[in-house]
Amino acid sequence: MQLQEAMEKRRSIRRFLNKEVSKEDLMTLISSALLAPSWKNLETSRYVIVSEETMLDKVKACLPAFNQENVKAAPVLIVTSFVKDTVGFDKQKKAINELGNGWGCYDCGLQHMNLVLKAQELGLGTLVMGIRDAQKLSELLAIPDDQQIVSVIAVGYPDIEPEMPCRKAVEDVATFI
Ligand SMILES: Cc1cc2nc3c(=O)[nH]c(=O)nc-3n(C[C@H](O)[C@H](O)[C@H](O)COP(=O)(O)O)c2cc1C
Repeated sequence: MQLQEAMEKRRSIRRFLNKEVSKEDLMTLISSALLAPSWKNLETSRYVIVSEETMLDKVKACLPAFNQENVKAAPVLIVTSFVKDTVGFDKQKKAINELGNGWGCYDCGLQHMNLVLKAQELGLGTLVMGIRDAQKLSELLAIPDDQQIVSVIAVGYPDIEPEMPCRKAVEDVATFI
């Protein structure tokens, strides 16, 4: 699949088939994420890949009702985080500029884009969810205190083919000087 096609065809999937995703494909998604650029190549993004049924239900319970409904049949949820106070900080742990931990989150987002595009190439659908209870997820998965939870990404085989929501035009967002 060409990059342009993957970018155009990728959609947020809110209905999944009850069908397992192979461990091999999940490994491929994470290794694709790791190909993304990162600040000083520090690679502070972290992933907890949940597919065991009991834990999957517990992670789903950390989502609001509408997201639980969206990922009802999703066989895999990936909880993403990054190590705080590293990317965008100097050796004395002082923020290098006004974005501070925004840079760690930026790196994480770059990796996530690789992950969702690779999923598209593998015939898998994804839903990035920013509306989740980070506190509950941290406790449930024993995420270390030095990490900030970012998103929960559902992965599975799509049971729906959504239309692309309309996008802004280049001239709405870009200034050429
Ligand atoms: C950072 C981020 C957080 C999001 N959070 C949610 C969410 O909690 N629930 C949801 O249903 N969709 C969520 N989405 C999906 C967006 O609504 C979706 O990407 C957008 O409407 C464009 O649709 P598309 O992904 O099909 O192109 C999120 C997307 C991003 C990038």
